[in-house]
Parts: sequence; C-alpha cells; structure tokens
Amino acid sequence: MIYADYNGSAPLCPDVREHVIKRIQEGPFANPNAIHHLGTKVLMAMENSRSVCAKVLGADFKQVLFNSGATEGITQAFFSIMHKNPKKKIIISGIEHSAVVNCAKFYMKDFGHEMVVLKTNDNGVVDLEDLKDHIDNNTAMVAVMAANNETGIIQPYREIAEICNTNDVPYLCDTTQYIGKTLFDFKKSGIDYAVMSGHKIGAMTGCGLLIAKDPTTVKELVIGGGQENGKRGGTQNYLAYETLAVALHYFETHLDKLEVLNTKRVEFESRIKEKFPDVVIIGENSPRLSSTTYISYPGIHGQAVQIELESKGIYVTTSSACSDNEPVTSKVLKAMNVTDDVGRGVVRISLGMCSDPAYYDEIFEALSNSYDKLSKIKSY
Ligand SMILES: Cc1ncc(COP(=O)(O)O)c(C=O)c1O
Repeated sequence: MIYADYNGSAPLCPDVREHVIKRIQEGPFANPNAIHHLGTKVLMAMENSRSVCAKVLGADFKQVLFNSGATEGITQAFFSIMHKNPKKKIIISGIEHSAVVNCAKFYMKDFGHEMVVLKTNDNGVVDLEDLKDHIDNNTAMVAVMAANNETGIIQPYREIAEICNTNDVPYLCDTTQYIGKTLFDFKKSGIDYAVMSGHKIGAMTGCGLLIAKDPTTVKELVIGGGQENGKRGGTQNYLAYETLAVALHYFETHLDKLEVLNTKRVEFESRIKEKFPDVVIIGENSPRLSSTTYISYPGIHGQAVQIELESKGIYVTTSSACSDNEPVTSKVLKAMNVTDDVGRGVVRISLGMCSDPAYYDEIFEALSNSYDKLSKIKSY
C-alpha cells in the first residue's frame, strides 16, 4: 500500500507515534491549569512544546496559540481583524482554501464587507500587481496562502507581506500546506497571522496553531476560563499539542529527507512526461512543494485514474468534483485558466517526509499502466 494523499492528511510521524504510546502508558495526566504537582508537570510539557514550535517556526513563544487546527486559526484571525472593522475591503486570492473563502463571504454577507478576489497567473501564482492595484486605505485585510493544497505551488508571501506592511494592512497567510514541508520563519516573513494543522505534518488530528505577530490583537472566539492567555478558553488538548512539537522537531532534524524526495519527484515527473508527452504537470515551471505532483492526462477522467491506482493499492486524490455525474474543473485550476479537458483529468500525488522516495518508482509503474489502459478506452 502506498499512501499518497499527505496534502489531505498525513499519517502519524514515527516519532509522534512513539511519543503518544509512551505518554499514554506513562502519563502524567492532569489538568494543565491545576496547581498540584501533576498539573504543573503537564503544564511544563505543554509550554515546552510551545517553545519548540516557536523555535522551529521562527516565532516568539508568546506569539504561538494552540488550537484545533487551521480552520479555527483562520476563523479567529478573521474575527480578530474584522470584528467591528469600519474598513470595507477584504482581499483574498482565487486559489484560497474554503476555510478562507467562506470566512470572507461571511463578513461580506452578514456585515456588508466587500470581497476582492485577486487574479492568478497561468503558472498558479497570485498576481502581485493586482494586489498593489487593489490595496488602499479602505482595505481591512489581505488573505493569501503560502502554498496551495491542490497544486503545491508556492506563493510570494514575503512580497505580499511587504506590500501589506507598507500599506498598514493586516496579512493573514494560510501556511497550512507550507509549514512542515519547507522551512518557514514567521518573524522574517512579515506575516501578521499564520496558521497550521497538526494532521498535515504527522502530528495528531484536531490540533494546530495560530501564530500572531502581535498576540494582543487576537480576540477570543471561545471565551471560557482564561486558558491560552485568555485567547482560547477550555482545558487544553495538551497531549495533541505535544505532538505538534514532536512532528516539527522531526521535520527540522530530517530536512535531508525532503531533498531526496524532491529529487525523486522531479525525476518521476520527467519520466512520465517522456513516456506520455500529452501529460500536463500543473505548475510545472513554478516553485512547488517538494512532494506534490498534480498531473493530468487530457481526455482521461481523474477519477478513473484514481480508481485504477487504488486497485493497485495506491491512494491519491482528485479535486475534479462531480456535478450531475460530470467531472468539473476545480476553482483553483479555473483561476489558472486550465482548460476543462486538463482540469477533469487531474490527480494529486502528495507524499511526505516519512514516505519512502522509492514509492515514486512504484507510482510511475502503476500510473503508466493506468494511462496505457485508460487511453485505449478514453473516458470522454
Ligand atoms: C490550505 C489549507 N488551508 C486550510 C485547511 C483546513 O485545515 P483543517 O481542516 O485541518 O482545519 C486545509 C486542509 O485541507 C488546507 O489545505
């Protein structure tokens, strides 16, 4: 079995698995806010985890807020910026995750804000000139991601931060797919709010981080009893937060694995293109995450390829959702002006740093066989 849907959710990293088993067997378990010795021990472990996360991500300890994941972080950042904000304009890109899009729509529909969607060029990169044209003193915030979940294409977030900082506009950067896949330095980035989810990096599902340049600007969504410096009430999910630190530490100490994976991905892509010249690699000429390939054979449904691969024990995904039994090109690909015959054919192959790079050889064989078989049938 080859699991190649890390951008969807990564399996637990081996160090995380070991840590969780040991912690469950040995404890201690206590409320981290309790004043007794066991509570203090749990609190110390949790705060130590916060320090590790902050160090790996180039943030200050106090800038890191534990939460349930990226969706919550995005929602809280929006709330912190938009609540009673007299400025009208929310600028997002056309390739944002629905967690961002739906927050922007919420403030648009319920509070009369205006949503501006930036252009994306054909290489899948958000248009900086369009941002410069739209940003003004009526702009409440900008939200543009660091790396796209479908394509793996990396966005110019440092330049975006610079434009936002110059215009004194808060910048929320959805770093969910970026963190843990490539080095990230929050302080150097100029970003105001960054987010992540544990399950994208081999930590536990249901935990994550919001990192805020100025934590005093964060408004509480869950009121509760003053936990997380009064920014997120409720007893902390401390064991899950420890796994964030373990996974990020693993990432930091195994960067060489990413390089090997990247080399194998590039080799895999050129082999498949050599064998099938019609094949399109989305964002081929753009900076991309080391372990994401978004590939299409025009004329063959992505779902047919996905089913073929699954029958060989290889788990990939396709974003071309069906409507009335017809595959529809995703909004991300539409924003890149990808044609429907390419858009309907995509499958996303996403590995992670714990994957064996040799998987690319097996995926090559299986994908070649699937393309050979399906091109004789032609799905549409
Ligand atoms: C880019 C991006 N942002 C946000 C999210 C939301 O993450 P979660 O569902 O863990 O809250 C995801 C998850 O797929 C994502 O890929």
